[in-house]
Amino acid sequence: MISRIDQGELKRRVALAAVDAVVPSLGTGAIVGVGTGSTTNHFIDALAKLKDRFEAAVSSSIASAERLAAHGVRVIDLNDAETIAVYVDGADEVEPGGALIKGGGGAHTREKIVAAAAERFICIVDESKEVDTLGVFGVPVEVVPMARRSVAGRLRALGGEVRERAGFVTDNGNAVLDLHGLTVADPDALEAQVNNLAGVVENGIFAANRPDLVLVGTPEGVRELVP
Ligand code: A5P
Repeated sequence: MISRIDQGELKRRVALAAVDAVVPSLGTGAIVGVGTGSTTNHFIDALAKLKDRFEAAVSSSIASAERLAAHGVRVIDLNDAETIAVYVDGADEVEPGGALIKGGGGAHTREKIVAAAAERFICIVDESKEVDTLGVFGVPVEVVPMARRSVAGRLRALGGEVRERAGFVTDNGNAVLDLHGLTVADPDALEAQVNNLAGVVENGIFAANRPDLVLVGTPEGVRELVP
């Protein structure tokens, strides 16, 4: 088990490695997609030093957009971006095949949208996020508020325990339910099954669109996992 301070340093180091990995994608007109969370915050801070080498960023959250803007990075709407050269984001769990659980910060809907729009998806994690099988973290599910109760019942029927994030509202104005107690043996199937429930906006399993590269921060250095 690593301490919090050690984990923070691993997040910083893997974020710096991600900046190195995106440099070849930079250039005139290049748009960089930016995720959300504490690991991505390190990435934003380092990427901002290269802000003269790309056109703009597309952000997956209001929080990241504000951080980018505070650094003087131009932030544009996804609808105004012709192409996104590369998208960089953290994760809450990653399994050996590269399927992820995201949404610890409740930003997974916009994260999935921007990741899907990008030509390349790079995921950055410290080694504490590596698991053999997804599920221990729980599966965040963004839900239209009027469907909280009905969706919670459907999720319970899958065999899990459902916890509502009390008082939490996503950037899209919705609620988040966390589905706990499931071993996600087939991430592709569960991602599709949960998204098929009426009232679900998006869930935090990233299996249909997996990262092209996962960078894992370890005390020995940054390891590459190519799913
Ligand atoms: C935000 O909703 C999440 O998907 C984050 O990307 C994820 O929770 C990782 O966050 P940290 O980098 O803070 O661990």
